[in-house]
Amino acid sequence: MSTTDSTAAAAAGLRGVVAAQSAIGDVNGEQGILIYQGYNIHDLAEHSTFEEVIYLLWHGRLPNENELEELNAEIRANYEAPPQVIEMTRAYPNDADPMDVLRTAVSALDFYDKDGHKTDRENAMWTAIKLTAQIGTITAAWERLRNGNEPVAPDKSLNIAANFLYMLRGERADQDEEHMFDVCLILHADHELNASTFTTRVVAGTLAGMYGCVTAGIAALAGPLHGGANTAVMKMLIEIGDLDKVDAWLDKALEEKRKIMGIGHAVYKTEDPRATWLRKYSKHMAEKKGESKWFDMSQRVEQLMHEKKGMFPNVDFYSASTYYMMGIPLDLFTPIFAISRISGWTGHILEQYGNNKLIRPRAEYIGQRDLKYTPITER
Ligand code: COA
Repeated sequence: MSTTDSTAAAAAGLRGVVAAQSAIGDVNGEQGILIYQGYNIHDLAEHSTFEEVIYLLWHGRLPNENELEELNAEIRANYEAPPQVIEMTRAYPNDADPMDVLRTAVSALDFYDKDGHKTDRENAMWTAIKLTAQIGTITAAWERLRNGNEPVAPDKSLNIAANFLYMLRGERADQDEEHMFDVCLILHADHELNASTFTTRVVAGTLAGMYGCVTAGIAALAGPLHGGANTAVMKMLIEIGDLDKVDAWLDKALEEKRKIMGIGHAVYKTEDPRATWLRKYSKHMAEKKGESKWFDMSQRVEQLMHEKKGMFPNVDFYSASTYYMMGIPLDLFTPIFAISRISGWTGHILEQYGNNKLIRPRAEYIGQRDLKYTPITER
């Protein structure tokens, strides 16, 4: 398609382009407001649970007691991943990136769900339940296996947050950490048409099955400009090394035009409301561990980036030090993002299936025209 007014250049990265109608979530970047199905993220983080938020994202309203109980039972009954999928991961190289493992294993889940390609609401809802239940099981199993330990079987008496930490460590986390982690899952659950959610909707728009949509979403989430930023933030803090080195390190990094991970956002031009909670949790973990180094360094980076560039931290910035102080390996930070975002992805896929139109935009052609083909010997 050719245009004379170069609309595509104006919309580089599709910034500001409305590509779908959705009732699931909304981001107000100017005012720093995030809502899920009408509820403010602060209200949900303060009062709700991850399972309740999953129900909200899938059904458009909060559940009553019976509905929540039923969803909990369905998710917990599906915590076990098909044993063949876990067996397969044993053959993967030990140093495989956990996001690559997750992407490959989620793709393989499709083999063991005979209804996995069905896109009607009832069948797709079951696939969403299985995916939401099993993505944490796969991540925790991989962490155990790559370290030479056997996977820990899921505990059906626990919610998703507590069960994940239990499968990872082989023992229950304390209540404080279980609650904090549950809130982290709420905070990461949905974020409108971010890159990975858009990806899942594009795939769903072809009426491909949900496992394929989510496999593509995981691939998109892995990139360092998206979910991969949380791991990159922690690597940056480790590279800086100490609070008194932050100023000089940052000056040099900005001089070299390096992007400071966890800072800036394509939509928020003010504080990301999720960062408000994660800053609090990073501080809380620092106090709990009696080691404030990572929190202090993060705060200094935040302060300097605000002074020098007028930029704010995003969701990945303080989640990095929070998870690190919880003893979670760096390369599991992004899979944890997926363990939460699966709820938003599946919600969007259900919404797309429910009112589908193939997503097929146009490109503004900027190449040549009317060239004459020349035989290879004459080029
Ligand atoms: N550190 C330093 N400079 C940054 C920056 C960062 N984290 N983010 C943006 N900038 C600068 C760019 O260098 C660019 O400067 P220029 O105009 O002088 O070239 C300007 O701000 C605009 O950057 P751009 O990448 O086009 O803005 P965007 O709105 O598309 O970027 C992000 C959004 C998230 C991709 C970007 O802020 C970023 O890469 N952040 C770090 C990665 C990250 O944390 N990702 C997780 C997002 S939740």
